[in-house]
Amino acid sequence: MTSASHDTVRALQWHEDGLHLLDQRRLPHEVIWLRCPDAAAVADAITNMVVRGAPAIGITAAYGAALAAQAAWQRDGSGWQEGVRADLERLRASRPTAVNLAWALARMERVAAGLPADADPSDALFAEADRVHAEDIEANQRMGRSGAGLIQPGSGVLTHCNTGSLATGGLGTALGVIRTAWADGRIERVFADETRPWLQGSRLTAWELSADRIPVALLADGAAAALMRSGQVQWAIVGADRVAANGDVANKIGTYAVALAAREHGVRVMVVAPTSTVDLETDSGEQIPIETRESAEVLYAGGQRIAPEAHGVSAWNPVFDVTPAELIDVIVTERGVVHQPDRAGMARLMGSDPA
Ligand code: MRU
Repeated sequence: MTSASHDTVRALQWHEDGLHLLDQRRLPHEVIWLRCPDAAAVADAITNMVVRGAPAIGITAAYGAALAAQAAWQRDGSGWQEGVRADLERLRASRPTAVNLAWALARMERVAAGLPADADPSDALFAEADRVHAEDIEANQRMGRSGAGLIQPGSGVLTHCNTGSLATGGLGTALGVIRTAWADGRIERVFADETRPWLQGSRLTAWELSADRIPVALLADGAAAALMRSGQVQWAIVGADRVAANGDVANKIGTYAVALAAREHGVRVMVVAPTSTVDLETDSGEQIPIETRESAEVLYAGGQRIAPEAHGVSAWNPVFDVTPAELIDVIVTERGVVHQPDRAGMARLMGSDPA
């Protein structure tokens, strides 16, 4: 069996009439595709979590930039390079932590800067967005292979959040490794944290694994340490929203707690992320901007208030945390793996001098 037989879900599709996004707010109950005809709709879709997951956000933003240039050409003619700026800023501000967003926009801007002012830029920019998309699919395959090779047959694995087809262009990052290792017969059991408050684990990871016929056991986030103590998992495999120059990793809130518990129980931690998630400009995890979302995500579940409506009851809702590099055993990228990540290892991977 190959990983292709466990890879049927897609989060986004480009059609002539715009970008179509699988509305992840409605899963697992409803499968609804939302059409984004312009850059403003794309930015709103990113902010409101119609599409989420670092690589999927990057690909979506790339198509958003192409839509912005198309509209600017129709509106401003040869002034399109100036006319596109406001839409690009809106896209850039749509979510702060996943660096794939800024990475994809910078790449689109580089291509735009080399295009003539007096010709329609659309074809060149949609082609570049297609390349961003295709490269992510390819990167997922490569990471899946090298990550799976690190897993001993018979292992149990724990994952956190959703890092699969819903979060990327293809197989997924951490979930791509899990899909590949499952297809290879290396994994006996997959566990997924439900991932409060947005429930990416129970709503999204369980949905896409069941679509691809990979059995999964969900657990409350607070049960992860007890699972590790029970000896049922040998690896915690997670994705990343930003990897800093020293190997610190920002990922979904709760990842840090998973990594701390893993170290205590001898469970190894694998971070799987394409190099579009590596940000050598960010010196360490301290400098990574952490998004805080509205209190309602914590005070409500499934539209139902779960906290008392009483004076003095509020919520703190940072949606990412930083796992220090020393708690990570290996970072898997499409360019290679970094064991015991540190500044020198990250610089070697990215082909630059350590600062
Ligand atoms: O808030 P989200 O759902 O966008 O957060 C997603 C995550 O934290 C993922 O683990 C990360 O983006 C890696 S996805 C391949």
